[in-house]
Amino acid sequence: MKNTVELHARASMPLVIAHRGARGHAPENTLTSAALGHAVKADLWELDVNYTKDYKLVVVHDDTLVRTTNVEEVYPGRPSYRVCDFTLEELGRLDAGSWYEGRDQFGRVAAGELSAETLASFKGLRIPTLEQALELTKRFDWAVNVEIKNHAHLIGHDTVTKDVLEMIRRFDMVEQVIISSFQHRYLLECHDLCPEIATGALVENTRPDDPVELCRSLGVNAYHPDRLILAPGDLAALRDAGFAVNVWTVNDMDEARKLVEDGASGIITDFPAACRAALGRD
Ligand code: G3P
Ligand code: MG
Repeated sequence: MKNTVELHARASMPLVIAHRGARGHAPENTLTSAALGHAVKADLWELDVNYTKDYKLVVVHDDTLVRTTNVEEVYPGRPSYRVCDFTLEELGRLDAGSWYEGRDQFGRVAAGELSAETLASFKGLRIPTLEQALELTKRFDWAVNVEIKNHAHLIGHDTVTKDVLEMIRRFDMVEQVIISSFQHRYLLECHDLCPEIATGALVENTRPDDPVELCRSLGVNAYHPDRLILAPGDLAALRDAGFAVNVWTVNDMDEARKLVEDGASGIITDFPAACRAALGRD
Protein backbone atom coordinates (compact mmCIF):
# COMPACT_ATOMS: atom_id res chain seq x y z
CA MET A 1 0.00 0.00 0.00
CA LYS A 2 1.15 3.54 -0.75
CA ASN A 3 1.59 5.78 2.28
CA THR A 4 1.78 9.47 1.48
CA VAL A 5 3.83 10.33 4.55
CA GLU A 6 6.31 7.55 3.87
CA LEU A 7 6.49 8.52 0.23
CA HIS A 8 7.53 11.99 1.28
CA ALA A 9 10.05 10.71 3.77
CA ARG A 10 12.07 9.08 1.01
CA ALA A 11 13.95 12.23 0.10
CA SER A 12 16.06 10.47 -2.49
CA MET A 13 12.96 9.80 -4.56
CA PRO A 14 11.28 13.02 -5.71
CA LEU A 15 7.56 12.46 -6.12
CA VAL A 16 5.90 12.97 -9.46
CA ILE A 17 2.33 14.15 -8.92
CA ALA A 18 -0.05 14.12 -11.90
CA HIS A 19 -1.88 17.47 -11.81
CA ARG A 20 -5.63 16.94 -12.24
CA GLY A 21 -4.52 13.56 -13.59
CA ALA A 22 -2.24 13.60 -16.61
CA ARG A 23 -3.83 16.87 -17.62
CA GLY A 24 -1.46 17.51 -20.50
CA HIS A 25 -2.69 14.42 -22.29
CA ALA A 26 -6.35 13.98 -21.34
CA PRO A 27 -9.30 16.01 -20.02
CA GLU A 28 -8.41 17.17 -16.52
CA ASN A 29 -10.01 15.76 -13.37
CA THR A 30 -11.54 12.74 -15.12
CA LEU A 31 -11.04 9.08 -14.37
CA THR A 32 -9.32 8.89 -17.77
CA SER A 33 -6.68 11.49 -16.87
CA ALA A 34 -6.18 9.75 -13.54
CA ALA A 35 -5.73 6.36 -15.18
CA LEU A 36 -3.24 7.87 -17.60
CA GLY A 37 -1.27 9.32 -14.69
CA HIS A 38 -1.20 5.87 -13.15
CA ALA A 39 -0.17 4.24 -16.42
CA VAL A 40 2.90 6.48 -16.66
CA LYS A 41 3.76 5.70 -13.04
CA ALA A 42 3.11 9.02 -11.33
CA ASP A 43 3.43 8.51 -7.57
CA LEU A 44 0.14 10.30 -6.89
CA TRP A 45 -2.48 12.22 -8.76
CA GLU A 46 -3.97 15.52 -7.71
CA LEU A 47 -7.67 16.36 -7.96
CA ASP A 48 -9.93 19.28 -6.98
CA VAL A 49 -13.05 18.82 -4.88
CA ASN A 50 -16.18 20.91 -5.22
CA TYR A 51 -19.65 20.67 -3.70
CA THR A 52 -22.80 20.29 -5.78
CA LYS A 53 -26.10 21.98 -4.92
CA ASP A 54 -27.07 18.86 -2.97
CA TYR A 55 -23.72 18.78 -1.18
CA LYS A 56 -22.22 15.87 -3.08
CA LEU A 57 -18.46 15.93 -3.57
CA VAL A 58 -17.39 16.11 -7.19
CA VAL A 59 -14.06 16.45 -8.95
CA VAL A 60 -14.03 19.77 -10.81
CA HIS A 61 -11.47 22.55 -10.74
CA ASP A 62 -13.35 25.74 -11.57
CA ASP A 63 -16.25 27.28 -9.68
CA THR A 64 -18.26 27.03 -12.89
CA LEU A 65 -18.80 24.24 -15.40
CA VAL A 66 -18.32 26.35 -18.51
CA ARG A 67 -14.68 25.67 -19.36
CA THR A 68 -14.61 21.91 -18.91
CA THR A 69 -18.10 20.73 -19.89
CA ASN A 70 -20.85 21.34 -22.46
CA VAL A 71 -23.11 22.81 -19.77
CA GLU A 72 -24.19 25.77 -21.92
CA GLU A 73 -25.50 23.39 -24.60
CA VAL A 74 -27.23 21.02 -22.21
CA TYR A 75 -28.73 23.70 -19.97
CA PRO A 76 -29.12 26.79 -22.20
CA GLY A 77 -30.11 29.98 -20.45
CA ARG A 78 -29.50 28.82 -16.89
CA PRO A 79 -28.86 31.90 -14.76
CA SER A 80 -25.82 30.28 -13.17
CA TYR A 81 -23.34 27.69 -14.32
CA ARG A 82 -21.64 27.33 -10.98
CA VAL A 83 -21.02 23.77 -9.84
CA CYS A 84 -22.85 24.55 -6.60
CA ASP A 85 -26.01 25.46 -8.51
CA PHE A 86 -26.33 21.97 -10.06
CA THR A 87 -27.39 18.74 -8.42
CA LEU A 88 -25.30 15.64 -8.87
CA GLU A 89 -28.00 14.17 -11.07
CA GLU A 90 -27.88 17.22 -13.33
CA LEU A 91 -24.09 16.98 -13.59
CA GLY A 92 -24.52 13.41 -14.79
CA ARG A 93 -25.83 14.72 -18.12
CA LEU A 94 -22.70 16.71 -18.91
CA ASP A 95 -19.87 15.78 -21.25
CA ALA A 96 -16.61 16.59 -19.46
CA GLY A 97 -14.28 15.40 -22.20
CA SER A 98 -15.22 16.77 -25.63
CA TRP A 99 -13.95 20.28 -24.87
CA TYR A 100 -10.37 19.01 -24.72
CA GLU A 101 -9.85 18.62 -28.47
CA GLY A 102 -11.19 22.06 -29.40
CA ARG A 103 -9.30 23.90 -26.70
CA ASP A 104 -6.06 21.99 -27.24
CA GLN A 105 -4.49 23.91 -24.39
CA PHE A 106 -1.08 22.33 -24.72
CA GLY A 107 -1.00 21.99 -28.52
CA ARG A 108 -0.94 18.18 -28.34
CA VAL A 109 -3.81 17.77 -30.77
CA ALA A 110 -2.28 20.14 -33.33
CA ALA A 111 1.02 18.31 -32.96
CA GLY A 112 -0.73 15.08 -33.90
CA GLU A 113 0.23 13.39 -30.65
CA LEU A 114 -3.25 12.07 -29.92
CA SER A 115 -4.83 9.52 -32.23
CA ALA A 116 -8.37 9.90 -33.54
CA GLU A 117 -9.26 6.90 -31.41
CA THR A 118 -7.90 8.52 -28.25
CA LEU A 119 -9.73 11.76 -28.96
CA ALA A 120 -12.95 9.83 -29.59
CA SER A 121 -12.52 8.12 -26.22
CA PHE A 122 -12.68 11.53 -24.49
CA LYS A 123 -16.17 12.23 -25.77
CA GLY A 124 -18.86 11.76 -23.17
CA LEU A 125 -16.55 11.46 -20.17
CA ARG A 126 -18.37 12.28 -16.97
CA ILE A 127 -17.43 14.46 -14.02
CA PRO A 128 -16.30 11.97 -11.39
CA THR A 129 -17.57 12.02 -7.86
CA LEU A 130 -14.94 11.99 -5.13
CA GLU A 131 -16.23 8.53 -4.34
CA GLN A 132 -15.43 7.28 -7.84
CA ALA A 133 -12.03 8.96 -7.75
CA LEU A 134 -11.14 7.30 -4.46
CA GLU A 135 -12.46 3.97 -5.67
CA LEU A 136 -10.20 4.15 -8.74
CA THR A 137 -7.21 5.17 -6.63
CA LYS A 138 -7.80 2.30 -4.24
CA ARG A 139 -8.20 -0.21 -7.06
CA PHE A 140 -4.82 0.92 -8.39
CA ASP A 141 -3.31 0.73 -4.88
CA TRP A 142 -2.22 4.28 -5.60
CA ALA A 143 -2.20 7.63 -3.76
CA VAL A 144 -3.96 10.93 -4.29
CA ASN A 145 -3.65 14.59 -3.35
CA VAL A 146 -7.19 15.79 -2.62
CA GLU A 147 -7.37 19.57 -2.95
CA ILE A 148 -10.40 21.05 -1.23
CA LYS A 149 -11.55 24.13 -3.11
CA ASN A 150 -13.03 27.21 -1.45
CA HIS A 151 -16.64 26.73 -0.41
CA ALA A 152 -16.98 29.87 1.69
CA HIS A 153 -19.63 31.26 -0.70
CA LEU A 154 -21.96 28.36 0.10
CA ILE A 155 -24.36 28.00 2.97
CA GLY A 156 -23.24 24.78 4.60
CA HIS A 157 -19.67 25.05 3.32
CA ASP A 158 -18.33 24.30 6.78
CA THR A 159 -19.17 20.63 6.36
CA VAL A 160 -16.79 20.04 3.47
CA THR A 161 -13.76 18.90 5.45
CA LYS A 162 -15.86 16.54 7.53
CA ASP A 163 -17.52 15.10 4.42
CA VAL A 164 -14.21 14.62 2.61
CA LEU A 165 -12.63 12.92 5.60
CA GLU A 166 -15.63 10.67 6.14
CA MET A 167 -15.42 9.46 2.60
CA ILE A 168 -11.67 8.83 2.82
CA ARG A 169 -12.20 6.90 6.03
CA ARG A 170 -15.04 4.91 4.50
CA PHE A 171 -12.62 3.73 1.83
CA ASP A 172 -9.97 3.08 4.50
CA MET A 173 -7.61 5.32 2.56
CA VAL A 174 -6.28 7.73 5.18
CA GLU A 175 -2.72 6.63 4.46
CA GLN A 176 -3.13 6.98 0.71
CA VAL A 177 -4.27 10.61 0.71
CA ILE A 178 -2.71 13.99 1.25
CA ILE A 179 -5.22 16.81 1.62
CA SER A 180 -4.27 20.29 0.46
CA SER A 181 -6.08 23.60 0.31
CA PHE A 182 -5.56 27.31 -0.17
CA GLN A 183 -8.20 27.63 2.55
CA HIS A 184 -5.99 27.00 5.52
CA ARG A 185 -8.93 26.71 7.90
CA TYR A 186 -9.80 23.43 6.17
CA LEU A 187 -6.32 22.14 7.00
CA LEU A 188 -6.76 23.07 10.64
CA GLU A 189 -10.06 21.20 10.61
CA CYS A 190 -8.29 18.16 9.14
CA HIS A 191 -5.78 18.35 11.94
CA ASP A 192 -8.59 18.30 14.50
CA LEU A 193 -10.82 15.73 12.84
CA CYS A 194 -8.19 13.33 11.51
CA PRO A 195 -4.70 14.14 12.84
CA GLU A 196 -3.22 11.08 11.14
CA ILE A 197 -3.96 12.28 7.60
CA ALA A 198 -1.18 14.05 5.67
CA THR A 199 -1.86 17.68 4.76
CA GLY A 200 -0.25 20.31 2.57
CA ALA A 201 -0.56 24.11 2.73
CA LEU A 202 -1.24 25.56 -0.71
CA VAL A 203 0.01 29.10 -1.31
CA GLU A 204 -0.04 31.39 -4.33
CA ASN A 205 0.34 35.06 -5.31
CA THR A 206 2.14 36.25 -2.18
CA ARG A 207 4.94 34.43 -0.44
CA PRO A 208 4.19 34.02 3.27
CA ASP A 209 6.65 35.97 5.43
CA ASP A 210 7.84 32.74 6.99
CA PRO A 211 6.80 29.54 5.20
CA VAL A 212 8.28 27.34 7.94
CA GLU A 213 6.27 29.14 10.60
CA LEU A 214 3.14 28.91 8.45
CA CYS A 215 3.54 25.13 8.13
CA ARG A 216 4.21 24.77 11.85
CA SER A 217 1.20 26.85 12.79
CA LEU A 218 -1.08 24.79 10.53
CA GLY A 219 0.38 21.47 11.66
CA VAL A 220 0.79 20.34 8.04
CA ASN A 221 3.25 17.83 6.61
CA ALA A 222 3.96 19.70 3.41
CA TYR A 223 4.21 23.11 1.76
CA HIS A 224 2.60 23.34 -1.70
CA PRO A 225 3.77 26.60 -3.29
CA ASP A 226 3.04 28.00 -6.70
CA ARG A 227 6.44 27.79 -8.43
CA LEU A 228 6.32 31.58 -8.88
CA ILE A 229 6.48 32.42 -5.18
CA LEU A 230 9.38 30.26 -4.07
CA ALA A 231 12.20 32.41 -2.69
CA PRO A 232 15.84 31.36 -2.63
CA GLY A 233 16.40 29.39 0.53
CA ASP A 234 12.75 28.36 1.04
CA LEU A 235 13.31 24.79 -0.09
CA ALA A 236 16.31 24.24 2.17
CA ALA A 237 14.65 25.91 5.17
CA LEU A 238 11.46 23.89 4.82
CA ARG A 239 13.21 20.58 4.26
CA ASP A 240 15.56 21.25 7.19
CA ALA A 241 12.51 21.89 9.34
CA GLY A 242 11.10 18.51 8.28
CA PHE A 243 8.44 19.60 5.79
CA ALA A 244 7.91 18.10 2.36
CA VAL A 245 7.69 20.65 -0.45
CA ASN A 246 5.60 19.86 -3.53
CA VAL A 247 5.84 22.63 -6.11
CA TRP A 248 3.16 23.34 -8.76
CA THR A 249 2.60 23.52 -11.67
CA VAL A 250 5.94 22.67 -13.19
CA ASN A 251 5.82 21.74 -16.87
CA ASP A 252 9.37 22.77 -17.80
CA MET A 253 11.48 19.75 -17.06
CA ASP A 254 14.74 21.68 -16.67
CA GLU A 255 12.99 23.64 -13.95
CA ALA A 256 11.73 20.42 -12.36
CA ARG A 257 15.26 19.03 -12.22
CA LYS A 258 16.60 22.25 -10.68
CA LEU A 259 13.84 22.34 -8.06
CA VAL A 260 14.62 18.78 -7.05
CA GLU A 261 18.35 19.57 -6.91
CA ASP A 262 17.48 22.47 -4.61
CA GLY A 263 15.42 20.24 -2.33
CA ALA A 264 11.85 19.92 -3.65
CA SER A 265 10.38 16.63 -2.52
CA GLY A 266 7.71 16.55 -5.19
CA ILE A 267 6.73 18.08 -8.52
CA ILE A 268 3.09 18.62 -9.43
CA THR A 269 2.99 18.56 -13.22
CA ASP A 270 0.61 18.29 -16.15
CA PHE A 271 3.15 15.98 -17.83
CA PRO A 272 4.01 13.19 -15.40
CA ALA A 273 5.69 10.90 -17.96
CA ALA A 274 8.13 13.59 -19.08
CA CYS A 275 8.71 14.55 -15.45
CA ARG A 276 9.57 11.00 -14.46
CA ALA A 277 12.02 10.78 -17.32
CA ALA A 278 13.58 14.16 -16.47
CA LEU A 279 14.03 13.20 -12.84
CA GLY A 280 15.67 9.90 -13.70
CA ARG A 281 12.78 7.90 -12.31
CA ASP A 282 12.54 5.56 -15.32
O1 G3P B 1 -2.65 21.50 -5.94
C1 G3P B 1 -1.83 22.19 -6.83
C2 G3P B 1 -2.62 23.03 -7.78
O2 G3P B 1 -3.64 22.23 -8.32
C3 G3P B 1 -3.23 24.23 -7.14
O3 G3P B 1 -3.82 25.07 -8.05
O4 G3P B 1 -5.64 26.02 -9.38
O5 G3P B 1 -4.43 24.04 -10.23
O6 G3P B 1 -5.97 23.81 -8.31
P1 G3P B 1 -5.02 24.71 -9.03
MG1 MG C 1 -5.66 21.73 -7.77
